[in-house]
Amino acid sequence: MQEQLSNRINNLATSQTLAMAAKARELRAEGKDIIGLSLGEPDFNTPDFIKEAAIQAINDNYNSYTPVDGYVELKDAIINKFQRDNNLIYDRTQIVVSTGAKQSLANVAMVLLNPGDEVLLPCPYWVSYAEIVKLAEGVPVEVPTSVETDFKITPEQLEAAITPKTKMIWYSSPCNPSGMVYSKEELRALADVLAKHPDIIVVSDEIYEHINFVGGHASMAQFEDMYDRVVTVNGVSKAFAMTGWRIGYIGAPSWIARACNKMQGQITSGANCIAQRAVITALEAPVSKISYMVDTFKKRRKLIIDLLNDIEGFVTTEPEGAFYVFPNVSHFFGKTLKGHKIENATDFSMFLLEEALVATVTGDAFGNPDCIRISYAASEEQIEEALKRIKKALT
Ligand SMILES: Cc1ncc(COP(=O)(O)O)c(C=O)c1O
Repeated sequence: MQEQLSNRINNLATSQTLAMAAKARELRAEGKDIIGLSLGEPDFNTPDFIKEAAIQAINDNYNSYTPVDGYVELKDAIINKFQRDNNLIYDRTQIVVSTGAKQSLANVAMVLLNPGDEVLLPCPYWVSYAEIVKLAEGVPVEVPTSVETDFKITPEQLEAAITPKTKMIWYSSPCNPSGMVYSKEELRALADVLAKHPDIIVVSDEIYEHINFVGGHASMAQFEDMYDRVVTVNGVSKAFAMTGWRIGYIGAPSWIARACNKMQGQITSGANCIAQRAVITALEAPVSKISYMVDTFKKRRKLIIDLLNDIEGFVTTEPEGAFYVFPNVSHFFGKTLKGHKIENATDFSMFLLEEALVATVTGDAFGNPDCIRISYAASEEQIEEALKRIKKALT
């Protein structure tokens, strides 16, 4: 009966992040002590003040279906957050709350893409972008970058990638997986190119906004000439350690927000009631309440970069945000390590899992076959032990 499956699902890649996690689980079940540096979620608990708001919401009997695009109080908290943190002015018709930023992105793809429409994805990009675009019958177009250019695309590259079929460009800044952060000047240079192509819509994924070690987060929608064609995506999963609560949101032109509302209304309806009430409290709190997590990530970043620089063959940038390093490991390609032939980043990542018992993710998953992603959402002890094992496996 398998052949009954749709082309849609047959053409969809399985998330390689999850595939690596599954392999790590398998080895753990065999009794191996695997250090997991593959997952994209903070290793903190949701802060108590947010948990308390959720408990209060349960006791206050928030249990009914919610408005499709989110509680008005949450939309207002999001509007205030956009104004406070990003200097962006949105009204209630421009906000849609979803079940995670992943659903926000899926909504945007479904309401904007027609078959064959191209979506530019500067590489490396977050794993799900390409698959979400394909699900919506769009065509992902990879625009490569490298460790030498800090994983940023240049205005020239953007111009060269645009075709008459280009409908959108999607990127995350701070970036998962590279950790790069576009400065306001860099975004302006890209906006200058887009100014010549007024029909292209920008999806600016800012979910790692607060996990920024250099400060000065910039949003594409801050440019007056771009505001009307930018969808700003954000959510609470990363900065508030709320991955399982599943709340994301967009600020967008009203016509796009209305379409997303319509789409979501037929697929999932409004996001979870308790989580929405908790997120009102999260977003109304001063950002300083979560800075202890960012401070910890910053310390770990230094630790992991120092340790990586101490191992020959890893070429890494100093990521300015998120909680990943994305070293180029092509030095090892063509070599045989402990009997494993290393042809590419997938082989290397698998080698690290089997021989160093450290789980990472191949850069192939993110459209960059020369790198691997190492998450430092792990304790300093785990990071030290993992890098010690990696060094030993390689020497
Ligand atoms: C760049 C990026 N965007 C969006 C998401 C999805 O976040 P959410 O948990 O809100 O669905 C992730 C999660 O890993 C991410 O890394």
